[in-house]
Amino acid sequence: MTQQVANNVVWHDGEVTRADRFNRLGQRGATLWFTGLSGSGKSTIAVAVEKALHKLGKLSYRLDGDNIRLGINKNLGFSQEDRTENIRRIGEISKLYCDTGIITLNSFISPYRADRDTVRQLHEDSGYNFIEVHVDCALACAEERDPKGLYKKARAGEIKNFTGIDDPYEAPIDPEIVLHTDEMTLEDEVEIILNYLQEHRYLILYR
Ligand code: ADX
Repeated sequence: MTQQVANNVVWHDGEVTRADRFNRLGQRGATLWFTGLSGSGKSTIAVAVEKALHKLGKLSYRLDGDNIRLGINKNLGFSQEDRTENIRRIGEISKLYCDTGIITLNSFISPYRADRDTVRQLHEDSGYNFIEVHVDCALACAEERDPKGLYKKARAGEIKNFTGIDDPYEAPIDPEIVLHTDEMTLEDEVEIILNYLQEHRYLILYR
């Protein structure tokens, strides 16, 4: 647990409420958290869901491991400690997006269960839902796809601590959604996510 360092800081409320913001957008803020191996399809699904939501007139935003590591988290590597800090920061950012009413589509390997649970708790403490999506793909399949050629490098010992090769991946125990990307089509995966958002009333005016 990260400790509060600054003293004498107090939360300052505004006068436009969460409900006001949600109603302005005609949707509820939500955090969709895609977790899975590198090459499992997290980013591909997030891009497709973003497109589908845009078509429906809904505002979403992608937070993607590689992109975030090129910016706000450029000072972090892949040690356990750095991955934990990576996820902690994204969890906080995603919660802020939730508060604006935006649906964030988070694609991070996020290999440690405890880190994901911390983000879940952070959301739930503020009255938001954390929608954990296990992008479940056999290692052999992710390795065969190897879209960035990283598995090949990891097998050759050119990359250390690579998730699934010489670093752990702790699968979710009870995620809200599981997508078996080695068996399903992208269209089906998008439909499952959109149906979930519709059924749980994220895409309508807030009451
Ligand atoms: S996480 O483990 O901290 O959640 P994150 O999703 O941000 O990881 O970044 C993973 C991406 O970084 C991978 O998709 C891959 O492109 C790249 N990468 C580089 N080195 C590693 C590594 N050692 N383990 C996993 N991914 C790595």
